[in-house]
Amino acid sequence: MPIDLECEGYSLPKEALPAMERALAAALRLEGAPEDAVMALRITNDAGIHEINRAMRGVDAPTDVLSFPSVQFPAHTVYSQKTPRLPREGGHPFLGDAVISLERAEAQGREYGHGTCRELAYLTAHSALHLLGYDHMEEADKAKMREKEREIMEETGLYRDEELLEKALKAMEMSYSPYSRFRVGACILGADGKTYIGANIENASYGATICAERAALSRAVVDGCRRFKAIAIAGDEPAWPCGICRQALNEFSEDMKVIVGTKEGIVGVMRLSDLLPHSFGPENLGVEA
Ligand code: THU
Repeated sequence: MPIDLECEGYSLPKEALPAMERALAAALRLEGAPEDAVMALRITNDAGIHEINRAMRGVDAPTDVLSFPSVQFPAHTVYSQKTPRLPREGGHPFLGDAVISLERAEAQGREYGHGTCRELAYLTAHSALHLLGYDHMEEADKAKMREKEREIMEETGLYRDEELLEKALKAMEMSYSPYSRFRVGACILGADGKTYIGANIENASYGATICAERAALSRAVVDGCRRFKAIAIAGDEPAWPCGICRQALNEFSEDMKVIVGTKEGIVGVMRLSDLLPHSFGPENLGVEA
């Protein structure tokens, strides 16, 4: 139990705690801290965190997250530079205490459009970094902390649609499309939280061309991933998946999210089941892909 959770009767979304634990585990690994280190995390509401903020910090306002490290780090110094000995509690190295307002996490998840789960994982990552000596009072420290947060969130597998599109846009740079000059990139998100990219690869014998979506799907399947949550498709112009790609994607997950965009941003999001209704799939042949 890397997170010693106290919920005060609040219940978290089902996928939240595993994602928060992945965030903590990633923070510990990236910082070279003991992997069995524990943080105590209390979940409360705005009134609850307001009270703690007033009592502990003299700040008369609610906030989203508060962190109280078990060891004090010198200014601008983080765990990996100092590797301090952490106190032990319940047989584990103890990082410190954190408090999150679930009310705030829900509101921020809505505001940023990525949901409560991702927001709770992000706030856990942010707090874990504070417990490991990170700070964001000065610009240079803040930049370092933001970069670590980004690395940690990559490992939680909770990508925002925009982040998947960004990866698809990068993949598009590798497009081999001398015939159509229509570049496409794709990034598919596995149920395991890993991402796989692909680009369209054309051929002088035109029919041998492979689309970006199927290039990404092939990489994923060969890597052992057969369940998918989402795919982002980037083009110089918006490119919804062609019929063959809809069918190929349907083989492994009939209801992934399909995000289409260009470098200007997302132009549309749909479910695969709406793009390929009444589909014919492995279940029709008694197979579970
Ligand atoms: N293409 C894709 O990569 N994905 C799609 O969903 C639509 C089309 C590529 C294939 C070909 O290289 C080029 O776009 C023009 O058809």
